Amino acid sequence: MCGIVGYIGNREAYPIILNGLKRLEYRGYDSAGVALYDGSDIQLSKTQGKVADLEKKVSKEISTKGTLGIGHTRWATHGVPNDINSHPHYSNSGDLVIIHNGIIENYAAIKKELSNRGYTFKSDTDTEVLVNLIEEIKKQHKVKLGKAVQIALNQVVGAYAIAVFDRKKPDEIVVAKLGSPLAIGIGDNEFFVASDATPFIEFTNNAIYLEDEEMAIVRRNKEVKVRKIKDDSLVDPYIQELKLNLEQIEKGGYEHFMLKEIYEQPSVIKDTYRGRLLAEQGIVKLGGLEDYIQKFTHADRIIIVACGTSWHAGLVAEYMFEDLARIPVEVEYASEFRYRNPIITEKDVVIAISQSGETADTLAAIKLAKEKGAFVYGVCNVVGSTISRETHSGTYTHAGPEIGVASTKAFTTQITVLMMIALRLAKEKGTLSQRDYMLHLNELSRIPGHVEEALRSDDKIQEIAAIFKDASNFLYLGRGYNFPVALEGALKLKEISYIHAEGYPAAEMKHGPIALIDEQMPVVVIAVNSNHYEKVVSNIEEIKARKGKIIAVVTEGDTTVKELADYIMEVPKTPETLTPLVTTIPLQLLSYHIAVLLGKNVDQPRNLAKSVTVE
Ligand code: F6R
Repeated sequence: MCGIVGYIGNREAYPIILNGLKRLEYRGYDSAGVALYDGSDIQLSKTQGKVADLEKKVSKEISTKGTLGIGHTRWATHGVPNDINSHPHYSNSGDLVIIHNGIIENYAAIKKELSNRGYTFKSDTDTEVLVNLIEEIKKQHKVKLGKAVQIALNQVVGAYAIAVFDRKKPDEIVVAKLGSPLAIGIGDNEFFVASDATPFIEFTNNAIYLEDEEMAIVRRNKEVKVRKIKDDSLVDPYIQELKLNLEQIEKGGYEHFMLKEIYEQPSVIKDTYRGRLLAEQGIVKLGGLEDYIQKFTHADRIIIVACGTSWHAGLVAEYMFEDLARIPVEVEYASEFRYRNPIITEKDVVIAISQSGETADTLAAIKLAKEKGAFVYGVCNVVGSTISRETHSGTYTHAGPEIGVASTKAFTTQITVLMMIALRLAKEKGTLSQRDYMLHLNELSRIPGHVEEALRSDDKIQEIAAIFKDASNFLYLGRGYNFPVALEGALKLKEISYIHAEGYPAAEMKHGPIALIDEQMPVVVIAVNSNHYEKVVSNIEEIKARKGKIIAVVTEGDTTVKELADYIMEVPKTPETLTPLVTTIPLQLLSYHIAVLLGKNVDQPRNLAKSVTVE
């Protein structure tokens, strides 16, 4: 968690850092701070709250002059969110100042040792311990900052992306990474450091993404030197050309990023299959998959590991792979998988799904699977992310930056990639007739149009949201391919409106949840055309008999459910296998509108952060 940003060059650092923090706020937003070198000393200001609160405080508190600085936006791990625990943190002498994204697991032992040597601590954070460890090493070993950072990092256990500078040597920033991301933007005699490239995209297209256990000293008007933290060897860094543009990371006229991202789905789904799905020629070709097809077709099973929304996409994939390609699938929460001594062999293929490509639990699950000899395939959105580099091969979703904390377009593009994989495997194994295979290719290429059509119900969905916004609980029900969509619909509502919601397979209702139903309970039922349609209709009857309020997602032209339901949200007809791509849309909009009507912070819901880089 947390976003870090830094600048050293010839421009004023503060506006760059402030703007960078605003772009990184998706990573955490319970407190924020900056430290600037004004030519003679450090100017530091920090506060509990958002970057906007910091901006106000800075204007009253410090001088914003200076061409070197660092900034931080926090998602608390050690120590509650308050002014003192906010970053940056000073060392005891006041010479060093640090920002940190991650967790130092052995901080307590180090803190004790430093306390014995007379160090004192203002905050409850592991980060303040780290900066004082660096200071102590610098003094003891009489070394420069870079060396002291290196020695310190060889003593700590945990995860970090750090940036630190010394007021006595204000011509360099030392950065290092293990487990949390860190990009260095290379400008013309200027450098940027940040958790991702968005803070510096308008200044440079060239970036180095540090690998784990690498550090760099970024010096004013000099080359960046990258070293291995363990053995001090110099690394020849790969300078990546960035393909991001500013428009992609701005709201583009929408009130919230979440809404923008919901509306982007028709175009990003197209981007996901562009050049990979050639429907008329009957071809699905995924660069990362072709060389490894045999691994999949000869696998005993596919294990999917992911968290949150990505896990829901994995559940949809379970239906697709088993149904279309006849390969057994298990879907695991990465956080459970990594700790339960799972049985994995070389004949297993593991698919890791992650929007950010940085989720700590998913990353740990990948490492475990690799250790046990499995082939690991990634489905990631963020290009160059840690997971995309840790996996043996993979496919990017090409959804573009997802900034709203609640995942929307990541989900539908993940399903699009997973469907293409399922179809490619089905073709290879001959488990689908040519007719069905071609039908799927054609129908998948029509999905962007269907999503566009589903989005046209927005006004109607907003009216439904207004009716139910004050409910305290919601149930979401679906069957088959749409059971994971019910889970995802409930998750979206919970995370942005703070209304309690549960997703269930519709048939499970009578085994317990039906007891919850009364006239106060809105039940969202996905009742589109499918093999289970009649069964879902029976489930709706059961809810109706208990006076529950039914909001149904139905296929255009449906009459049966329309008669039974209190409200309907229509989606275009598509084969059952592809329905999650359209049924998800009204559920995203429903959550969005309820949260907006309740006055919630849709893009930055409380307690959450976009990428969960701690376990
Ligand atoms: C929900 C949401 C989270 C993420 C989860 C995994 O809207 O955003 O549940 O899906 O934290 O994140 P990634 O996909 O980045 O691994």
